[in-house]
Amino acid sequence: MKNFLKPLLLPICALAATAVTARAQAPVPSPVSASSSLASAPTPGAANNNTTAPLPPPPTPSVPADGGTTPAPSKAVWSEVRVNGPYIAMTFDDGPSAALTPGLLDLLKQKGVHVTFFVLGSLAKDHPEILRRAVAEGHEIANHSWDHPNLGKMPDESVSSQLNRTKDIITAATGKPCDLLRPPYGSMTALQRHWFHDQLGYKIILWSVDPLDWKDHNPSLITRRLVDGARPGSIMLAHDIHKTTIEAMPAVLDELLAKGFKFVTVSELLAMELPPDPKKASSSSPSRPPRPSLAPGVPATINGSVEPMPGPTPALPAAAPSPSATPKRN
Ligand code: NI
Repeated sequence: MKNFLKPLLLPICALAATAVTARAQAPVPSPVSASSSLASAPTPGAANNNTTAPLPPPPTPSVPADGGTTPAPSKAVWSEVRVNGPYIAMTFDDGPSAALTPGLLDLLKQKGVHVTFFVLGSLAKDHPEILRRAVAEGHEIANHSWDHPNLGKMPDESVSSQLNRTKDIITAATGKPCDLLRPPYGSMTALQRHWFHDQLGYKIILWSVDPLDWKDHNPSLITRRLVDGARPGSIMLAHDIHKTTIEAMPAVLDELLAKGFKFVTVSELLAMELPPDPKKASSSSPSRPPRPSLAPGVPATINGSVEPMPGPTPALPAAAPSPSATPKRN
């Protein structure tokens, strides 16, 4: 396994380094994020040690999906997008929720806002009509796994099943396959990142603004974090399974629209991406002040994004009457 993986190491490391570089351009909210990000990505040894199980034998292990003709690996992971203009992508994870998502769609329609839903296959299978409606109204549906496991700790066959079953549900419901993936918790190994992108054809979408709405069930706080955190090119995280998140949305949308932001889907935002700024010191967009402060102790993913992880992490507030009644945090 090691021998056949050798040809993959360089592109993997280059990909990992790219992701780390991208994160480094924007302020990283916690030193834990930065160190975690750096620790797991750039060293060749880490690529192997970081993996809980070997990849299943890919059809062409030594040839990337691009045919190996490009001089450098293509970009695989986005936390934000460099764009020219006040465009942002609002994203909603972990649904659809039969109780909450239709009301959110009503609001989005009223405001003329298009968003991206990263859905769970296990929920989408019971509500394909919500997915159909979302697509009919201009929104985008994307893959967030079947039932929200930590993919970075799963055997490859299970990961495959998580992604493929969800993709099939989305395709069946909407008539179009999706090529955007957000791993739950933003968690994946370096090898999985390569696999998801180069072999399975996914663009891996993380986020740059996190309102921590899974933890703080406070509409005002959620509103402030999203509105204050937004920058041109931001990918904004939220969850349409929390009532308080939905309650925050009228103000969030109104305030962001009033500030001149234009909402697009993630794919639309990616289509606007500018080449990397050669100067890098200052871009056409305003300088980036620090992001909203984030809860200390919240673990980081290998990409430096902050999202609660399963396991011995800070517990949810006891009183969190999520309409989905699921104990998931994220
Ligand atoms: Ni999630």
